[in-house]
Amino acid sequence: MLSPVRPPFSREFPADFLWGCATSSYQIEGGTADGGRGESIWDRFCRQPGAIRDGSSGEPACDHYHRWEEDLDLAAALGVRAYRFSIAWPRIFPNGIGSRPNPEGLAFYSRLVDGMLKRGLQPWATLYHWDLPQALQERGGWLNRSTIGAFSDFARVMGDQLGDRVQHWITHNEPWCTAMLGHHLGVHAPGLRDFRAAMQVSHHLLVSHGEAVRALRSAAPSAKVGITLSLHPIRPASNRPADLAAAVRHDGLRNRWFLDPLFGKGYPDDVLSALGEEAPRIVDGDLCRIASPCDFLGVNYYFPETVADAPEGGALRTQVIESGDGPHTAMGWPVDAQGMVELLERVQRDYAPPALYLTENGACYEDVMGQDGRVTDLQRQRFLADHIAAAHQALRVGVPLKGYFVWSLLDNFEWAEGYGKRFGLVHVDYATQQRRLKASGEWLRSFLRTERVMS
Ligand code: NOJ
Repeated sequence: MLSPVRPPFSREFPADFLWGCATSSYQIEGGTADGGRGESIWDRFCRQPGAIRDGSSGEPACDHYHRWEEDLDLAAALGVRAYRFSIAWPRIFPNGIGSRPNPEGLAFYSRLVDGMLKRGLQPWATLYHWDLPQALQERGGWLNRSTIGAFSDFARVMGDQLGDRVQHWITHNEPWCTAMLGHHLGVHAPGLRDFRAAMQVSHHLLVSHGEAVRALRSAAPSAKVGITLSLHPIRPASNRPADLAAAVRHDGLRNRWFLDPLFGKGYPDDVLSALGEEAPRIVDGDLCRIASPCDFLGVNYYFPETVADAPEGGALRTQVIESGDGPHTAMGWPVDAQGMVELLERVQRDYAPPALYLTENGACYEDVMGQDGRVTDLQRQRFLADHIAAAHQALRVGVPLKGYFVWSLLDNFEWAEGYGKRFGLVHVDYATQQRRLKASGEWLRSFLRTERVMS
């Protein structure tokens, strides 16, 4: 058994460092048929036999659509100052597009934002956390260039509606996942297995980000806008030249393919030439659109990847290697807080974003509830303490890190893994919808209470 972790390094965080926790609409809301919401690609995907490990779906998830007040109370009680949530596009435009947004959908998010402000929580709104309206998928979804315009219309409407109260906006969450897991590996909605399509989708996502930045700025001129990427330090499996080259290729597709164009460098040449025929079709002006200046970069950090050369798989062939005997979470992901420092330093060195936020970090473990109803999740507590220490280390070496959001406030629907994988600071009993703060949540609360301020 691990010993409880004490907060060892709190006093050195800057006074304005932003502590938050995060969720997303499809993973917590439920209420999929309520308030005039349209169908999303995840509602549809979950009905495919075998798509979700436990055969579940985002209905009812945490029933947050009806229990949001209790959930905001829980977030506020942790002592965080920010709450990152996402807006379900099919609640606003049930058919994806239209001249009249759904008033019930707008009202829901307006109430939610007011609820945050009332509790002293700064709202951080993500526009796309994977729940595309199914109606748009019928027309090709992100593969169809017209989805870019639909997304920037959605962004404009949300900016108009909430821009007086929401200052911080994230256009996309983890576009690599939408492109690769959704369109190449087929394990996320919409479940396609087509590499070339995935590359085209990645390009449309990036262009739609740039267009949404412009739409948000025109609707809400004081908005602070960014994008959230899932980034990984990439390590070669050995010093063999073939593995070293594989690590560069893997980094190209995982990290640089998104970072380079966002920061005005265009797509990386090595990846473009390896892609050959599979490279996306780029329209004149697209690279400029993608590079619309942003106020911050959001980084979701979970784990590093170790890669080796692979005998097959085209010009970008690599294989991710199981990483040794060290600690792993219940997702099978290696635990490596130093990797986070390494990653942030690299992003800072190569791209120098105006500000960086860790918009997600957290861990899945096999939580056990004791007879007394307590979840003593010391491993998650240790994970958070180590990664918060790493965030502090990054600050000390000059990374402009401005905040840290824990994934997640609540246990929730973990996509293809269903409900079996829990990441919450708060345990959710899905049969009764009872919420209980875990030991990790208590630890975070006491850490934030005792936090002292750097002079
Ligand atoms: C990143 C995604 O943004 C989130 O939706 C997911 O639940 C976590 N990673 C954990 O896998």
